[in-house]
Amino acid sequence: MVVSCTSQPYSQGHAIYTAHCEGCHMEDGSGLADLIPPLDSSRLTLSDPSKLVCLIRKGLPFNTFTGQQMPSNTSMTDVELANLINFLGVEYGLNPQTIKVTEIKKMLAACQSE
Ligand code: HEC
Repeated sequence: MVVSCTSQPYSQGHAIYTAHCEGCHMEDGSGLADLIPPLDSSRLTLSDPSKLVCLIRKGLPFNTFTGQQMPSNTSMTDVELANLINFLGVEYGLNPQTIKVTEIKKMLAACQSE
């Protein structure tokens, strides 16, 4: 990992991951057998962060095959979303990138109108 002045958003992203994602996707993002998918680069759709923003905000419907559901995160702020997504990119993705809060706002507006 590149250590730079962005390490503070990184640690906020990590804390948000611990609070909101780790319980299901595990500390190392490996998921849980057939029930919870691992967070690897094929799943994270980091090439299209707008999908990830909508996924985290809205969650996923109940899956009748696994009996699992991913909850929505309606109270997460735009800054928290940005830090979480940037953390995921560094930690689990293949293409770390920095998404700005203004971009998050646009992505959220787009996924709400779907
Ligand atoms: C209560 C458990 C739970 C929590 C908490 C949770 N997830 Fe999930 N997540 C799931 C399940 C279950 C699925 C697969 C749903 C399905 O089978 O359709 C999933 C799927 C995903 C996927 C893959 C989506 C795809 O299209 O393949 C990603 C990425 C993801 N979660 C990220 C996150 C992130 C980031 C957080 C934290 C903000 C989070 N999840 C919190 C249960 C959870």
